[in-house]
Amino acid sequence: MNPTLQTQLHHRSIRSFKDEAVSDEMLAQIIAAAHQAPTSMNAQEISLVVVRDAERRARIAELTGGMNYIAQAPVFIAIIIDFNKTDLALRNTGKTQLIHESMEGFGVGAVDAGIVLGTMIAAAESLGLGIVPIGGIRRDPQGIVDLLALPPLTFAVVGLCIGHIAIDAPVKPRLNISTFRHDERYDASSYSAAIAAYDATLMQHWQNIGRSDGTPWSTSLAPFQSVYYPAVRPVAAMQGLLNDK
Ligand SMILES: Cc1cc2nc3c(=O)[nH]c(=O)nc-3n(C[C@H](O)[C@H](O)[C@H](O)COP(=O)(O)O)c2cc1C
Repeated sequence: MNPTLQTQLHHRSIRSFKDEAVSDEMLAQIIAAAHQAPTSMNAQEISLVVVRDAERRARIAELTGGMNYIAQAPVFIAIIIDFNKTDLALRNTGKTQLIHESMEGFGVGAVDAGIVLGTMIAAAESLGLGIVPIGGIRRDPQGIVDLLALPPLTFAVVGLCIGHIAIDAPVKPRLNISTFRHDERYDASSYSAAIAAYDATLMQHWQNIGRSDGTPWSTSLAPFQSVYYPAVRPVAAMQGLLNDK
């Protein structure tokens, strides 16, 4: 197996980081990889805000409701859907941008942000660094807008902690691949059995690593009973990302 695949198959989120800087060179390489990632229609409607200042990382940790590894990891990168950039280019041609008001626009922005996230993860892990993605920056989106000075037509959709690993984490098992790979047409016939098996596998995993607070996967989906980050819609709308078309 080649080293890229080896790294990807060994992915695990890290939540314990050393008090050691990520070098400028490593950070530049990670960002260069993401900069070259594909975007829908080559719109390049993604920007990054790199936060290395300790106080600002501590503030972001606070805004997530206490994800303290954000304060611990030396680098936090906020991934921004940036329709401000495309709006400027379009306005320069005398045209008016509308896509940022649509579900298509939010979807495209979220997909392209995800590609940037995945690319940075692959790059950072290939350098031996640890990462954890942070959807928690959507918990208090107005706080993030204020802290990062985000202008209209922008929204921080996800973040990424990067640092040197202090305490490593085990690779987490997944649902059976039959629930993931569908050949030729969608087929959910294996889902019920696979979910039951995975609930048991995950409980065994928690036991193996001494985590007494671990729950079955099905139970861990409890937040899906509500919109767990309800400020996303109103704050995105205030930023001009109305999502109503
Ligand atoms: C888009 C995205 C957002 C995430 N947000 C958070 C987060 O806010 N806090 C956190 O601790 N982990 C977060 N995670 C990490 C997931 O919990 C983790 O990927 C998942 O449990 C699988 O574990 P693994 O990455 O170790 O395989 C996020 C992951 C993704 C892909």
